[in-house]
Amino acid sequence: MLSYSLIASAKINLYLEIIGARPDGYHDLAMVLQSIDLADQIDLHSRSDDAICLHCNHPEVPQDESNLAYKAAALMATKFPDAFARYGGVDITIHKRIPVGAGLAGGSTNAAAVLVGLNLMWNLKLSDKQLQYLGSLLGSDVPFCIVGGTMLATGRGEYLTPLPVLGRSYVVLGKYRSLSVSTAWAYQTFRHQYLSSCMSNALAVENLEQSASIEKMVSAINHQNERNIGQFLYNDLERVVLPEYQKVQRLKEEFQRLGCATMMSGSGPTVFALTHSQAEAQQILESVKIAIADPDLDLWVSQFTPSSIRIPSFHT
Ligand code: C5P
Repeated sequence: MLSYSLIASAKINLYLEIIGARPDGYHDLAMVLQSIDLADQIDLHSRSDDAICLHCNHPEVPQDESNLAYKAAALMATKFPDAFARYGGVDITIHKRIPVGAGLAGGSTNAAAVLVGLNLMWNLKLSDKQLQYLGSLLGSDVPFCIVGGTMLATGRGEYLTPLPVLGRSYVVLGKYRSLSVSTAWAYQTFRHQYLSSCMSNALAVENLEQSASIEKMVSAINHQNERNIGQFLYNDLERVVLPEYQKVQRLKEEFQRLGCATMMSGSGPTVFALTHSQAEAQQILESVKIAIADPDLDLWVSQFTPSSIRIPSFHT
């Protein structure tokens, strides 16, 4: 029997600009993605039969074929039938710490961990590029989650260019436990409101006025300029999510009132704030907790991390 334990990191979007609508229903994006050390643990155990079984300690995580981590294992079994026949099925146990439906790529990073883990368990020797291709068949954020760190992502999110690794900056994350946002809803609403043919030019003008510029963000990262990174945080999906979810808007305003560079991550509803030190991050977390005083609001301190999937242990 083979067993692997993998640590699968969440991500935040330092930048998310919607470039345009695609005929396949997706959107072309320009993003900067950053791994953070808020992470799930994924345990893989080989089985003596050919079943794929998934277990998770979180009540909102599906434990059937609809889970992206299950789909990752099923994809590997289909693509590599000889290895599947030789090594057998797999038990996947997800120890959930990343909030669900949060805009932090929790499901995508679990799927990435299964791809990385089965590549090792089945001795397939696939490269990161090959794993990223398989990841792109599962979801737009999965290719990033294979490698992680700091990346420029374009296309649907699957074309990746590594950026210089950022220092281990601290972030405070806030998410209302009872709120989750459907990513599909956020993109479709954006499409209807901003990307109808007569609106496309208006969007371009608005983006110019708001100084949305991936070049400025990339330059800030290349120069490791924390102040500019904070200044050029950007997320087009805030335009549809914040008006719909007043509590998320209020959380962002609270971070702003405390002087933080702050932005919603992905399709939300998690909002993050960049800070200069662990002490400052802790202070901001406590201040927000007191100011908002809502037992439904969860807050975390996390740190940028230079990789996504880590393998602290494996045993036969
Ligand atoms: O790729 P993934 O399954 O994670 O995407 C979830 C949903 O987000 C898609 O069904 C689509 O509605 C939307 N999406 C999009 N354009 C992207 C990525 C995601 O419209 N580039």
